[in-house]
Amino acid sequence: MVSMDKLVSLCKRRGFIFPSSEIYGGLNGCWDYGPLGVELKRNIKAAWWNDMVGHHDQTTAPDGAPAAFDMVGLDCSILMNPAVWEASGHVGGFNDPMVDCRETKTRYRADQLVVFRMEPVEKTESGAAANETLFASPGEAGITPDADLIAPHRKRIKALTRRGGEYRLTPIADALLDDDLRAKVFSPGAGEPGTLTAPRAFNLMFKTHVGALEGHSNVAYLRPETAQGIFVNFKNICDTARVRVPFGIGQIGKAFRNEINPRNFTFRSREFEQMEIEFFCRAVEAEEWYRYWRDRRFRWYLNLGLSPEKLRLREHDKDELAHYAVGCADVEYEFPFGLSELEGIANRTDFDLRQHMDKSGKDLRYFDDQEPNKDLRRYLPYVIEPSAGTDRAALAFLCDAYAEDEVGGELRTVLKLHPRLAPIKAAVFPLVKKDGMPERALTLFRQLRKQFNTYYDEKGAIGRRYRRQDETGTPFCITVDGDTLTDDTVTLRERDSCEQIRLPADNVATYIQDRVNG
Ligand code: GAP
Repeated sequence: MVSMDKLVSLCKRRGFIFPSSEIYGGLNGCWDYGPLGVELKRNIKAAWWNDMVGHHDQTTAPDGAPAAFDMVGLDCSILMNPAVWEASGHVGGFNDPMVDCRETKTRYRADQLVVFRMEPVEKTESGAAANETLFASPGEAGITPDADLIAPHRKRIKALTRRGGEYRLTPIADALLDDDLRAKVFSPGAGEPGTLTAPRAFNLMFKTHVGALEGHSNVAYLRPETAQGIFVNFKNICDTARVRVPFGIGQIGKAFRNEINPRNFTFRSREFEQMEIEFFCRAVEAEEWYRYWRDRRFRWYLNLGLSPEKLRLREHDKDELAHYAVGCADVEYEFPFGLSELEGIANRTDFDLRQHMDKSGKDLRYFDDQEPNKDLRRYLPYVIEPSAGTDRAALAFLCDAYAEDEVGGELRTVLKLHPRLAPIKAAVFPLVKKDGMPERALTLFRQLRKQFNTYYDEKGAIGRRYRRQDETGTPFCITVDGDTLTDDTVTLRERDSCEQIRLPADNVATYIQDRVNG
């Protein structure tokens, strides 16, 4: 598996992802997508939009019939009336528990600081209990102790076990909530125990002010999710788009969260993009539609090439569910830093529409004029919400695609991205810079460029040119050589297998198109 250091370095070197405002020292939790990164992200969003909003009817409904439901799109403003966030519960409850270390002046999310009890396996003369140490390590909840985690505590381990013998690490749940225990915990990097403050709630929404004056009355929030924009437009869409339940609304857009501890490259950022669907259905059918969307969203990642052995669909336990949800599953990916959430699919009942109906005073019930039973005609639909992060998807596709192998005795780094996602689909090279080869290659390049993002390169040895494209994930390299000038055939080299085939130059565009679509 690729290390994060290698991936971050490749992303910087090849222009996928840069730290935001880097020349001024960057801004924690914010990232800029360079020329290749922006293409990758656009391809992910286009694939999502086409597959979910555009060609949704190519799959089957829960009953096995072709899925003949409507999907429409939306693009809401990022700033909305703050009443939206009161009604959704974000103003009151979109909090993370935060702790500060008074010694290192570092801030942590309390639920991501795992407290371990460390004690020798063999009892020392003075007794194990007296020698135990409590230390906190940053990591997602449930992390298992590994070498990195305990490295900062080696000295203590040695002292504890005399000659660095065996020790035991046991995670302690909720240790930071207990004043007595907290007083004994070594914060990461701290020399003394007891430097962590008690956890306190921290609202993740970014606040701003609308208009020239800054006051309580003109507070606005940068949206922390795109979903609420869909709910508050539910009535508008029912009134104008001729949709019938069951139907879905898709939206792609920026979301902002003032994360206490942005981490793991783009995985937890303060500004990121979401791809969300709110799918409206009758309550009695919600369970079936939930399973439909959960499975369909999982398949989407597989179809775009993520390794099945690194992808997992995890159904939440009942006690993990939000109070309004009756079902939730996470699509998780085995990142280099551990198994983590890519997307959540939830059955949110009618909670959101009901909240907005109550708080706005507008009737948001759906009217089904074809329902024979009069009593069932007007109702609040249930909602199934597949909510994905574009940046997390991009990171997972990059981690999964990264490979190092040997070609012709030389090491190469290659990004084995699905051709549909690859930022550049094809590169065209003249074998040498003479005999009319550049001219023919440029004609082919200009022709291909009308259909795909194509690159032209005539500099350096052909092997080096291949290598450059491998690193950026270009699936096809086409070389114009001496034979091209007589029979108009070219060599097409495939990135992953390095196999080369000969085909007429006129067939190249169709060949690539088929592979990209396939
Ligand atoms: N409307 C539901 C919702 O927003 P969420 O689990 O908070 O649910 C959905 O977010 C997805 O958005 C996540 O699965 C993840 O892919 C992405 N996401 C959330 N917070 C993120 C962050 N700080 N940085 C990058 N992506 C994030």
